[in-house]
Amino acid sequence: MLLDIEDLTIELPAGAAARPMLAEVSLRVGRDEVVGLVGESGSGKSTTARAVLRMLPEGARASGSVRVDGEDVLAMDPARLRRHRSRTVSMIFQDPRSALNPVRRIGDFLTDPLTRVLGLSRRDAVAKATELLASVGLSEPERRMRQRPHELSGGMLQRVVIAAALSTDPDLLLADEATSALDATTQAEVLALLRSIQEERRRAGSGLGTLFITHDLPLAAAYCDRVYVMYAGRVVEQQPAHGLFADPKHPYTRGLLECSPSLGDDRAPRPIPGRPPSLSDAFTGCPFLPRCARAEAECETWAPVAVPFGGRGVDGDGSDEGGSAACRLLELVTRSSA
Ligand SMILES: Nc1ncnc2c1ncn2[C@@H]1O[C@H](COP(=O)(O)OP(=O)(O)OP(=O)(O)O)[C@@H](O)[C@H]1O
Ligand SMILES: [Mg+2]
Repeated sequence: MLLDIEDLTIELPAGAAARPMLAEVSLRVGRDEVVGLVGESGSGKSTTARAVLRMLPEGARASGSVRVDGEDVLAMDPARLRRHRSRTVSMIFQDPRSALNPVRRIGDFLTDPLTRVLGLSRRDAVAKATELLASVGLSEPERRMRQRPHELSGGMLQRVVIAAALSTDPDLLLADEATSALDATTQAEVLALLRSIQEERRRAGSGLGTLFITHDLPLAAAYCDRVYVMYAGRVVEQQPAHGLFADPKHPYTRGLLECSPSLGDDRAPRPIPGRPPSLSDAFTGCPFLPRCARAEAECETWAPVAVPFGGRGVDGDGSDEGGSAACRLLELVTRSSA
C-alpha cells in the first residue's frame, strides 16, 4: 500500500481543545489510485494531509501510524524525513499565487528543486523544467520560464505548480483544494491534466497515488476512484465513488449530497441544519447527532466505529466494492441481517 494511515489521532496540548483534531483516522491510497477526502470546513482534511508530511501543529501529540511504502512517517529520522518531503510526496495547495515568489521568474521556481533535490546541472534543470511546462499543457514554455507570476492567469499558475510538484517524480500527490479557486472550465482542464499524468505513470509502471482533498462531494464522486468523508476529525464514511453517489450510507454524506444539487436537478438544495463542530465541541457519542434527523437516544452514547458494508470493506486496491460508515443505525441493520 502506497499510503496507509491507521488509527491516526492528533491532539493539541491539554486545554487547547475539547476533542482531538483527528480521531482514529484510517485511510489508504494505492498506487494508480485517486482517492478523495471530503468534508465541511474544519473537519480535518488538511490536518490529515499535513500529517502525511509529519507537519503537526505546535505541541500536538500523534498516535497511530502513517505509513508510506511501508515506512512510518511518524518514526522517520530527520534525514529520512527530509528525503520523504522532497522526493516521495508532493503537495499542491489551493492558491498558486501564494506558492510562488512574486518577484522571481517561473523558471527559477521550477529549476530550484531540480538542482537542489535531484542534483541536476543548471543546464539540464532548465531543459527539464521547459519540458515539464510543455507537459502540463503550457504554450511557449521557453517564454514562460522567463515570465513572472503576475504575467500568468490563475489556471496557468496552477499548471506551473503542478509541474513543480511532479518534477521530483513523487510517488504520492497530495492535492489540497488544488482546483477550488479555478473557474469551472479551467478546473475541468486541470483535472483532466492530473488524470492524464496519472495514466502516463501507470503505463510507465511507476504508479502515482493521489489524495484529492475538496469540500465538493459531487466533484470528488465524479473525479475519484474512492472517497472518504470526514466529520469532526473522524472518517464517517468511505466507499467507491460511484457507490457514494448512488447509495450514501452515513446521514452526513446524504446531507452533503442533498445540499449540493446536481445539474438538471430542479429541487432546491437542502442545507444540513446546524453548524459544523469546532474543536471546542466535545461529544459523548456520535459527533453528528446534533444535526442528524434520524438520531435516536442510544446514539448519544454510541462510540463511533467503522461499520463495514458490501464486499469485505477492504479499501485501497480497487478490487473490492465494499466500504464502511460510522453510523449506529447502519450497525443495527448490518447486525440484524447477519
Ligand atoms: N495549527 C493549528 N492549531 C490549532 N488548531 C488548528 C490548527 N490547524 C487547524 N486547526 C483546527 O483543526 C481543525 C481541523 O482543521 P483543518 O484545517 O484540518 O480542516 P479542513 O477540513 O482542512 O478545513 P477547510 O475546508 O476549511 O480547509 C479546525 O477546527 C481548525 O480550526
Ligand atoms: Mg483545509
